[in-house]
Amino acid sequence: MTDEVNTGRRRFLTAATTVVGAAGAVGVATPFIGSWAPSAKAKAAGAPVQVDVSKIEAGRMVVAEWRGKPVYLVHRTQEQLDALATNNSRLQDPDSEQQQQPAYVTGDERSVKPELLVLVGLCTHLGCAPKFRPELAPEDLGANWVGGFFCPCHGSRFDLSGRVFQGVPAPLNLEVPPYRYISDGVIMVGEDPEQA
Ligand code: FES
Repeated sequence: MTDEVNTGRRRFLTAATTVVGAAGAVGVATPFIGSWAPSAKAKAAGAPVQVDVSKIEAGRMVVAEWRGKPVYLVHRTQEQLDALATNNSRLQDPDSEQQQQPAYVTGDERSVKPELLVLVGLCTHLGCAPKFRPELAPEDLGANWVGGFFCPCHGSRFDLSGRVFQGVPAPLNLEVPPYRYISDGVIMVGEDPEQA
């Protein structure tokens, strides 16, 4: 593991701990999915990770882990999907032309099925874990905010498809990892559909 990766991982673990701690105080949690975890040896080899996404409530996020990185899984509501296009004129790369995603993931949704967003939860600036901020127009993020991710390290903002806003330090959209559905409510992160 390189120093950079170690640093990113440390930040992720610190942020995840902070999120759980803070969430405990207000009674809302962003749960980690742990039961599927492959062996340490398989993880080191970058094995795909199977995740049951069927129980994620609408509007909520859970975090899985793949190749030592956090993977954010968000069940977006129809309202949230409808609001995505309202961000486009304020995004750096609304059409994701910078190749931060597999070719089979297109459009404002950047997902295989519109409702499920799958992202690598590492900021494209220096690798902190952005916070899930699904609220509408919270005081600290402004009247135009229709839900997304906010990076606490240097203030980068991303929409609910992980697309980066203009005027922030992060240069790229959050990465969409390869993934495929192996059944209606179960995905395999780390495998393309053609590997089925
Ligand atoms: S690491 Fe996210 S804004 Fe710098």
